[in-house]
Amino acid sequence: MKIIIINGPNLNLLGKREPDVYGNQSFEDYLNSLQTKYPQIDLTHFQSNIEGEIIGKIQETGFSFDGIILNAAAYTHTSVGIGDAIKAINTPVIEVHISNTYAREPFRHQSFLSPNANGIIIGFGMKSYELALLSLLN
Ligand code: DQA
Repeated sequence: MKIIIINGPNLNLLGKREPDVYGNQSFEDYLNSLQTKYPQIDLTHFQSNIEGEIIGKIQETGFSFDGIILNAAAYTHTSVGIGDAIKAINTPVIEVHISNTYAREPFRHQSFLSPNANGIIIGFGMKSYELALLSLLN
């Protein structure tokens, strides 16, 4: 199985960024632990702070990969373009968030992605990514 995790803006700072909200672990360390735990999955990762690059990666992987785990971070709440990209592809997309966005500011309660995602996993810390991965396994 080929699965990609696509992370949006500021998620390159996980481990340093607001640790009370996002924890102390870098994404690289977390990804390594996932790759070790699920060696049968071809699990790759792409991070960008640029909306168009995220759309480009969704298009590039969205007809050949078995799953996309997408944390579009702040673009979740603003990007019609990322929402449309999810709608345009065949690969299932699981939207994830580390924090419980519904327990935070009202602007984080809206997602332009959720209507087009196959499923949504929100608020389980970094474990949200693993839960999304499990949802994609046969
Ligand atoms: C986030 C939640 C978003 O509201 C925020 O802008 C992020 C991270 C999360 O994973 O909890 O950058 O997507």
